[in-house]
Amino acid sequence: MNPPDDKPAYGPKNPFPALFLERRPLGSASAEKQTIHIALGLSGAFPVECGGTIGVVAENDPAAVAAFLKATRLDGNTPVIPPRSAVEMPLAEVLQGRLSFEIAPTPALLSAAALSASSPTERKALEEKAALPAPQFAEYAASRHLREIFSENPSVELDAALLAKLLPPLAPRLYSLANSPLARPDTAEIAVACVEYPLAGRVVRGVVSGYLCERCTPGKSLVNVFPAKGILRLPPPETDLIMVGPGTGVAPFRAFLQHREKTGAKGRNWLFYGHRHESEDFYYREELRAWEQSGLLTHLSLAWSRDGAEKRYVQNLLWENRDEVWRWFEGGATFCVCGSRLMAREVEGTLARIAVEKGACEGTPESASAWLKARRAEKRLLVDAY
Ligand SMILES: Cc1cc2nc3c(=O)[nH]c(=O)nc-3n(C[C@H](O)[C@H](O)[C@H](O)COP(=O)(O)OP(=O)(O)OC[C@H]3O[C@@H](n4cnc5c(N)ncnc54)[C@H](O)[C@@H]3O)c2cc1C
Ligand SMILES: NC(=O)c1ccc[n+]([C@@H]2O[C@H](COP(=O)([O-])OP(=O)(O)OC[C@H]3O[C@@H](n4cnc5c(N)ncnc54)[C@H](OP(=O)(O)O)[C@@H]3O)[C@@H](O)[C@H]2O)c1
Repeated sequence: MNPPDDKPAYGPKNPFPALFLERRPLGSASAEKQTIHIALGLSGAFPVECGGTIGVVAENDPAAVAAFLKATRLDGNTPVIPPRSAVEMPLAEVLQGRLSFEIAPTPALLSAAALSASSPTERKALEEKAALPAPQFAEYAASRHLREIFSENPSVELDAALLAKLLPPLAPRLYSLANSPLARPDTAEIAVACVEYPLAGRVVRGVVSGYLCERCTPGKSLVNVFPAKGILRLPPPETDLIMVGPGTGVAPFRAFLQHREKTGAKGRNWLFYGHRHESEDFYYREELRAWEQSGLLTHLSLAWSRDGAEKRYVQNLLWENRDEVWRWFEGGATFCVCGSRLMAREVEGTLARIAVEKGACEGTPESASAWLKARRAEKRLLVDAY
């Protein structure tokens, strides 16, 4: 996916400043979880392909930096050396652009905090926490971030340079491309779930999703992006396609369907989509319904997890439709999954269960996982999970 010789190879260290073209909510305004459709102008910098992803390099929210500095009792002007650099910069700048600080405490961070605590009680408590066995440590770390360690332990005075060394670098985030270049050339469209969750009495927002969903201005902001290969690939045009993509996992399948529509691909298409509520979280509803009407989608199977008394997930629909799913699969269909890791694991498990029922695989966990591995190796099963 490298651009021609006369263009730079865009990557995490050399991203392209794409123009933030547009942003629109994909669900209803009242949805508990907001997801935003975003379009970024690539101005010929690099090509995009169906099934690919785009990397976004973003900065921390300046308000979050200020709150973190306040909690740490550190001066943002203190010069520190950022990661992979030899040149000093003010701590506030390094925190904003280079480091990840909205993170759960690690034993190393707790040990460093303990050493810097002037209160013997706090020091002892922090040392004890740092030495907890992994399961108890995980439980302790799940309910607080590093910022809380400072507010819970007012005598901790961590050195700015040490903090800058201990914090992990701010990594780019990947997003699945939601458009085919045939439907909208020179543009990267993505569906971004706005990460937001309560923690220790405050609301934490995702660094990059927060940047894209809240802090960018359409027509003005430049977003640093680079192309990244994805796991999903469109099979040959005549191959049937089973796509399982609840939530933001639907994004690459929108791209696939756009592509198949534009190219008149003859293979049949079956999409399993789902989310919490039909009235609030039916992303790309009009497009999907139109493709169902036109016949591009042979089937559109929908699972709403919070509309009924019991959870209903895409894997339940797969199982209910297992006879037809298996006919498609045995007939050569490619089976694609995209979305959360937990969901993908359960969908793969369901596919293996179907294979067992149909006699293609023995019922032991070992043979199920060998069967899935073999299907992945022959690219009949493509899974992009995050
Ligand atoms: C190949 C690939 C494709 C992807 N495609 C997409 C896509 O199309 N759309 C999309 O939205 N995302 C996608 N992602 C995920 C995306 O890259 C980011 O991870 C996501 O946007 C969160 O990044 P952030 O910087 O906003 O959040 P961060 O600041 O990284 O925060 C996220 C972290 O917060 C914590 N967290 C989140 N929710 C909770 C909670 N309820 N309780 C406690 N802790 C919590 C978790 O530790 C989580 O890892 C993809 C990832 C990969 C690897
Ligand atoms: N705590 C976390 O860190 C956390 C939690 C969720 C999502 N995420 C991340 O948030 C991002 C975007 O999520 P999203 O908007 O695409 O939606 P999502 O949170 O993945 O939810 C989409 C649908 O999948 C359902 N679901 C939940 N668990 C499932 C399972 N085990 N099997 C099948 N379906 C399941 C959800 O139902 P219900 O919610 O009703 O169960 C919902 O209906 C992803 O990066 C995901 O990994 C993080």
